[in-house]
Amino acid sequence: MKVWAVSNQKGGVGKTTTVATLAGILASRGKRVLMLDLDPHGSLTSYFGGDPDLSSASIYNLFQHGPECADTLVQETGIEGLHLIHAATAMATLDRQVGASGGKGLVISQGLAQLYEQYDYALLDCPPILGVLMVNALAACEHLFIPVQTEFLALKGLERMLKTLTMVVKAKQMTLAYTILPTMFDRRTRASIKSLRSLRENYADTISPHVIPVDTQFRDASQAGKPLSMINPSARGAVAYTHILEEMIPIDDSLRQRAFAS
Ligand SMILES: Nc1ncnc2c1ncn2[C@@H]1O[C@H](COP(=O)(O)OP(=O)(O)O)[C@@H](O)[C@H]1O
Ligand SMILES: [Mg+2]
Repeated sequence: MKVWAVSNQKGGVGKTTTVATLAGILASRGKRVLMLDLDPHGSLTSYFGGDPDLSSASIYNLFQHGPECADTLVQETGIEGLHLIHAATAMATLDRQVGASGGKGLVISQGLAQLYEQYDYALLDCPPILGVLMVNALAACEHLFIPVQTEFLALKGLERMLKTLTMVVKAKQMTLAYTILPTMFDRRTRASIKSLRSLRENYADTISPHVIPVDTQFRDASQAGKPLSMINPSARGAVAYTHILEEMIPIDDSLRQRAFAS
């Protein structure tokens, strides 16, 4: 199982969209994919028809009952090969609860360890807050995507996220590979062009060569409760995420099979 997390302390930058779209492409390639909604707002849960106010089986249970219960929490999404562990609004209280007891930084990785054989990929949608859930996600993942909206204020948010990352990584004495992912790029606006240029100048080593364009079909996809790639694989946004994925898994099995078949 490969574990990827998607995180940025700024909201509305495309984290949830990144998780849903990458997960959808992986599932349509025959991979077994598990998404984890770590954001108490539960956007990913709502995306796939759940309700974070009513979740009786969620990430919250992992913290209450221990990582052993992970496999009882997995929900179907209606899409083959694509499963989800819901968020619950109560997760917003975890920092207060755990703050006192401490030692809860590995709950997610231990939960995923229970599911290691059942999935090829786990994708974690992080909350926009540095707290126990984000610390868990950073400890559990082997690669981090940081979506950054290509607009004026985005760079500040990115700096904050990178500071957080450095802090957590230092405290845990670990290393973590990450990719900065420019999102919502609108080539008709100067703000987009300028901020992309400055991202590329400042973060040359870690920025993705591929950019996610503004695509209104993402909203249609979330309303339909399906990843964009499954509604319209040739939508600009879906194609862009496919490039990102191919960057991550250059010799993907399904591509290799296709090459042999032709
Ligand atoms: N590339 C994009 N183009 C247009 N709209 C987008 C794009 N990515 C995300 N959105 C929309 O922007 C809003 C916020 O995205 P979301 O993924 O929920 O951000 P976050 O999880 O970082 O808060 C959603 O309505 C989503 O459909
Ligand atoms: Mg979100």
